[in-house]
Amino acid sequence: MSETVLSVRDLSVVTSGDGSPETILDRVAFDLRRGEILGLVGESGSGKSMTARALIQLLPGSRLAISGGSALLKGEDILSLDERAMGAVRGGSIGMIFQNPSSHLDPVMSIGKQIAESIRFHKAVTGRTARDHAVEILRQVGIPDPERRYDAYPHEFSGGMRQRAMIAIALACDPDILIADEPTTALDVTVQAQILKLLTDLRDARGVSIIFITHDLGIVSQICDRVAVMYGGRIVELGGKREVIGNGRHPYTAGLVACQPAEGQPGERVRTIAGQPPRVGHMPPGCRFHPRCPRADGTCSAVGPELVSAEPGHSVACHHPIGPELVEAAP
Ligand SMILES: Nc1ncnc2c1ncn2[C@@H]1O[C@H](COP(=O)(O)OP(=O)(O)OP(=O)(O)O)[C@@H](O)[C@H]1O
Ligand code: SF4
Ligand SMILES: [Mg+2]
Repeated sequence: MSETVLSVRDLSVVTSGDGSPETILDRVAFDLRRGEILGLVGESGSGKSMTARALIQLLPGSRLAISGGSALLKGEDILSLDERAMGAVRGGSIGMIFQNPSSHLDPVMSIGKQIAESIRFHKAVTGRTARDHAVEILRQVGIPDPERRYDAYPHEFSGGMRQRAMIAIALACDPDILIADEPTTALDVTVQAQILKLLTDLRDARGVSIIFITHDLGIVSQICDRVAVMYGGRIVELGGKREVIGNGRHPYTAGLVACQPAEGQPGERVRTIAGQPPRVGHMPPGCRFHPRCPRADGTCSAVGPELVSAEPGHSVACHHPIGPELVEAAP
């Protein structure tokens, strides 16, 4: 088994300020191995982006705080770094790619310069070296004629090319990890396929590990090695893609899979899981999925299940999982 690059344990985020703190992320835990693509899936509001943002200490609001946990990046706990040290990790060992590149690119600086600046921020190199390296990265992410395109501005690029440019910036300092938060959601299907291919090619060529956040189980099936399913700020199932998507043990995972439109049947109505996901401040007691779960009983509404091993490499947080009963084992 390949080396663990990032080991996240008990990562929790709460609201701070007036009133009692509300839990937004609840003891999120997973390992990321070298060269793997780990999918983070779940409905809107389940905590996918919050997990990514907590890891880089960029929580989306001033009234949010990391209340506990650790995230060991090659042995160092990045949650305990001060802002200066964390600034070196962001865009250094961890590159970030977001859904909307336009809001993360500087509109008045050329694409090439933005990459070169990132290189110079993180590494003591000359301007010439940074420029040459930036041109090389533009080439690697599939920008045609990169010498000339170095001087282009974001508005001169198409949506797909802008996303490639953002991937180039994320790659500028040879990161160990890329965090990609819905990087293809805003793109049309053809460009989406090209960007997914680019990411898997980069993984193969560089051995970079990718946390890939998506709503789309089709994308997970296509590119991910393992998958973590989130619900109400918790990971409820974690394991290899085939086990989780093909043989999910958690009723919520099964519901998500059942809601995916069948391939080749575009006219079919998309099913949804009955009921609404829980909202912060209104989390149900016990298992957060119990109001929507067809298998729920009195235990479920009283006691929250822990994430435990169902079989090697596959964990589930459920009192009554699909398939054989769980034998209590270490998570
Ligand atoms: N700035 C904020 N302040 C307080 N709560 C927030 C803030 N941003 C998000 N939340 C809450 O945190 C929870 C997790 O949100 P998050 O953005 O991680 O969801 P997500 O899984 O990424 O959803 P989506 O698929 O819509 O992007 C949600 O309940 C959301 O309401
Ligand atoms: S613990 Fe109970 S309510 Fe929660 S998913 Fe499992 S069966 Fe459903
Ligand atoms: Mg999100």
